[in-house]
Amino acid sequence: MEDYYLGWLEQVENALNIWGYYKIDFKPRLIIITGMGGSGCVGDYVYALASTKERFRYPVLVIKSYELPKFVSNEDLVFVISYSGDTLETRYAYLETLRRKCRLVVITSNGFLERDAKQKNIPLILVTKGIAPRTALPEMLLAVLNVLDTSGLTIVSKSEVEDLREFFKENMANAYSEAVEIAEFIHNNKGVLVIATHTPLEVLAIRGKNEFNENSKIPVKIDVAPEWAHNDIVGWENPFINKYTVLEIADPDNPIGLKLIEFMDEIYMEKGYPVKRVLLKGEHFLQKLLYGSLVLGLASVKLARLLRIDPLETKNISKYKSRVYDILGQT
Ligand code: PA5
Repeated sequence: MEDYYLGWLEQVENALNIWGYYKIDFKPRLIIITGMGGSGCVGDYVYALASTKERFRYPVLVIKSYELPKFVSNEDLVFVISYSGDTLETRYAYLETLRRKCRLVVITSNGFLERDAKQKNIPLILVTKGIAPRTALPEMLLAVLNVLDTSGLTIVSKSEVEDLREFFKENMANAYSEAVEIAEFIHNNKGVLVIATHTPLEVLAIRGKNEFNENSKIPVKIDVAPEWAHNDIVGWENPFINKYTVLEIADPDNPIGLKLIEFMDEIYMEKGYPVKRVLLKGEHFLQKLLYGSLVLGLASVKLARLLRIDPLETKNISKYKSRVYDILGQT
């Protein structure tokens, strides 16, 4: 499993090799990204990158469900993402986008979506097969950014992705050792894990939560300031249980973010919770997000190793997937 994460440099190279090949001649009203779990978080990243990009004017909507909002129409561009190509919620959303005649791009490695997109001649980007869906994040994310850039809807340009490749080369070893330290910190302190951060890094807190859920098999709470300061903060006055371990994630180049984290730190310290802070490396937001994702992914695998469990297997997701046909019914 560690190798899947250490393969992120190769994923960036794969993405660069196909940069410029997929063009959509269409100016959409909305850019919609739909998928679940490890594939679903691609939409969160695109949203975060689009929101912080100067002069990008297209609204991005992330859908992690089997249904589409009623207002989605043929004026919209939809990226349908499922690593396996078989996730039922995503298949249902895909069929609905076809019914509404949206412009579509499918990103997958396999399964129903690959077969159906080929048969219907829908733009299709195939990513590396045979790894854990959540570890295919860079390739799936860069596939979306590639289509947008090639179509004149640039959020991230090819040269920024080339910089990311160099950044990964220089920082892979750093990320690995930081991940080992984090895993040991969480393992030694044994509290419920809290991932605390500031905007616009909520995507990283969600991704980190998902990684520790799936790889380490533990529940995780996320605290994102400033919204945290309007509700969660009160919950910390009198929690039922009092054993928490806090992992703070901050952008060292964001002065307000740093002040927010300092304030959060004060509240956790008052309770006596052990706290560890991760300062994101990288020059651009894309580098910071993917550096943080790599560190959290590897840390969650290393924690699984310390707990002597298999990071790859996700039994309860398989149980859900075997029942989801009954739950959702046929479309
Ligand atoms: O990472 C995982 O294994 C999961 O979160 C999956 O991504 C999730 O179950 C959805 O499956 P898929 O990515 O194949 O659509």
